[in-house]
Amino acid sequence: MHFGILTGGGDAPGLNAVIRGVVVRAEAGGHRVTGFLRGWKGAIENTTVPLNREAVRDIHTLGGTILFSSRTNPRKIENGLERIKQTLKENEIDVLIALGGEDTLGVANALGEMGVFVVGVPKTIDNDLSATDYTFGFDSAINNVMDAIDKLKTTAKSHERVMVVEIMGRHAGWMALYGGMAGGAHVILTPEKEFDTDQVCDLLKKRYEQGRRYALVAVAEGAIDPGLARHVYHSAETDSFGHVQLGTGIGIGEVLKNEIEDRTGLETRHVVLGHVQRGGSPSAFDRVLGTRLGVKAVEIGESGENRRMAALRGTEVVAVDLAEAVGTLKTVPEDYIKTAELFFG
Ligand code: F6P
Repeated sequence: MHFGILTGGGDAPGLNAVIRGVVVRAEAGGHRVTGFLRGWKGAIENTTVPLNREAVRDIHTLGGTILFSSRTNPRKIENGLERIKQTLKENEIDVLIALGGEDTLGVANALGEMGVFVVGVPKTIDNDLSATDYTFGFDSAINNVMDAIDKLKTTAKSHERVMVVEIMGRHAGWMALYGGMAGGAHVILTPEKEFDTDQVCDLLKKRYEQGRRYALVAVAEGAIDPGLARHVYHSAETDSFGHVQLGTGIGIGEVLKNEIEDRTGLETRHVVLGHVQRGGSPSAFDRVLGTRLGVKAVEIGESGENRRMAALRGTEVVAVDLAEAVGTLKTVPEDYIKTAELFFG
């Protein structure tokens, strides 16, 4: 069989582990693999690279993706999906393995409906994809968030300051919640639950009055205080999948920092963690998860089942329906937030 593979959307640590897993398992099964460069862009423009065991040696230790990535949306390009179908035909690809989040896998699912044989692999640092317990990239990213909070705490303590840390997550607060809990943030604000800045300020004042004269506020970039919403700058630009770009101007981190300082008089600083969260080499967990998902993707291809996704369920890597994964975003359930709230203040 001939497998095609591409990586779409924001990069995530572990992509290279999946690519290596696919190539090594494919070669073991007597198959060959061709990579398409820059996500769907490469599948439209027929930009390819042959992949073999030598090309993927040790790449599981590297962050990013050797295939490059883009947010190209074929549905926004004239005959985009048809052109991809044509490219796959020209390259005699039997199975296309798409590594991506909701957007990339949504396109894969649409191609599947058009008769293209597709397999999905769930990637996103945001961990907001349904039908899998975790996406790869999330574990590495929350470790980056935790490290940043650990570091910010020592300087916050020395200067008796409040530090507001803005964390990625436009629609889901998994990273703010897990990174914040692991780092021991004193307030965690997620898009799932609207917050009230006055309540945050009261909590901080109380903390200082009790002698704990520093604080870490972890805020997801998509978190909302309805009273502050109009101050938060959302870029006029949207990406090709229609997502507003947050954190590119005055984001919630900076707005909240200003409000806390004004309302409490406490010296406050803010830090936008930004793309540092996605960078660097993958954690051990993501290297192993990525490898297992890559191997499973080839096995799904061999099985002849179309429109499936390799997913983590419990400790097992299994095949699930691709449509199930792209149906709804997986947001943080209320009980997770309640647990985190026990440690506020
Ligand atoms: O990968 C998802 C994500 O990390 C979001 O959390 C974030 O808002 C967005 O990507 C940033 O995207 P870009 O790389 O296009 O700036």
